[in-house]
Formats: sequence, C-alpha cells, structure tokens
Amino acid sequence: MIKGNNSVKLTLPAISINESYARVAAAALAAQADPTIEQIADIKTAVSEAVTNVIVHAYRGMPAGKVYITMKLDEKGIFTVTVRDTGCGIEDIGRAREPCFTTAPAEERSGMGFSIMETFMDSLRVRSRPGRGTTVTMIKRL
Ligand SMILES: Nc1ncnc2c1ncn2[C@@H]1O[C@H](COP(=O)(O)OP(=O)(O)OP(=O)(O)O)[C@@H](O)[C@H]1O
Ligand SMILES: [Mg+2]
Repeated sequence: MIKGNNSVKLTLPAISINESYARVAAAALAAQADPTIEQIADIKTAVSEAVTNVIVHAYRGMPAGKVYITMKLDEKGIFTVTVRDTGCGIEDIGRAREPCFTTAPAEERSGMGFSIMETFMDSLRVRSRPGRGTTVTMIKRL
C-alpha cells in the first residue's frame, strides 16, 4: 500500500462524549502524513466544530441520531473529512456560515463554528437540505 493512502469510516451516536472520539480519530489518521503539530491541532479543532454542530443542532427536538464521519488521506498528503447527519438541515447556508450567526444564542453559542472550520482548513463545503440533513466536507493539505 502507498503510504498515506488510507481511509476511515465512523458512525457514532451524536452525543457529546463522541466529540473527543471523533477529534482523536481524525488526528490519528492525519498523523500518518507526518504533519506539523499545528496542522494536527487545526484538524482537531475543525472536526470538533463540525461534530459539535451535529450534536448540538442537527437532532434538536428529535431523538438523537448518528454522526457519520468519512476521512481519507491520499498519497499526496491531502486529508479530506466529511461530517454528515440526517437531522433538521440548515435553511440558509450562507447565513449560517456568517461569523457570529447562531440559532442558539441562549445556549451561549457564539456562531463561530463555520468560521473556525473555514480558517483552519484549506476548504469547507456545506450541503444541506431542510428536514433531510447536512454534510460538511473539509480538506487540508498536509
Ligand atoms: N449539522 C447541523 N444541523 C443543523 N443546523 C446546523 C448544523 N451545523 C450548523 N447549523 C446551524 O448553523 C448555525 C451556525 O453554526 P456555527 O457552528 O457557525 O455556530 P454555532 O454552532 O451556533 O456556535 P458555536 O459553533 O460558536 O458554538 C448554527 O447556529 C445552526 O443553526
Ligand atoms: Mg457550532
């Protein structure tokens, strides 16, 4: 097998203890590309924000569902992670991605999650369908 050609799929209950599990799993895969400490920290932070969003927002008012995580590392050291849910979806993605926009101000959310993902990764794509769920795809070159 070519070094760095690896992938992982995880399905986890969308509950808060699994935020750290997802973060550590992402770091473990990314580590195979000999990244810098800073790159690992960036990936951990971004994955943590995406998974936390699923835990906090996706299944609001319904039974807690799952978070589906797919991660891939190619032979060029490009790390791709997808965080998907089958929850409520996002009505207006453009607005949701704006800094400081949150639908949960009462819970002391600052609305910075997507901005952090965008800053710490090389690319961020958000796809969502109201009532169907959300898929966040992030890429980082290591
Ligand atoms: N997976 C998701 N399912 C449903 N809604 C989401 C999801 N992810 C984000 N959102 C919506 O997008 C908004 C912005 O998300 P973002 O992560 O930027 O901020 P936040 O989660 O509200 O606050 P913070 O991340 O700073 O704690 C959220 O308030 C929520 O309405
Ligand atoms: Mg958030």
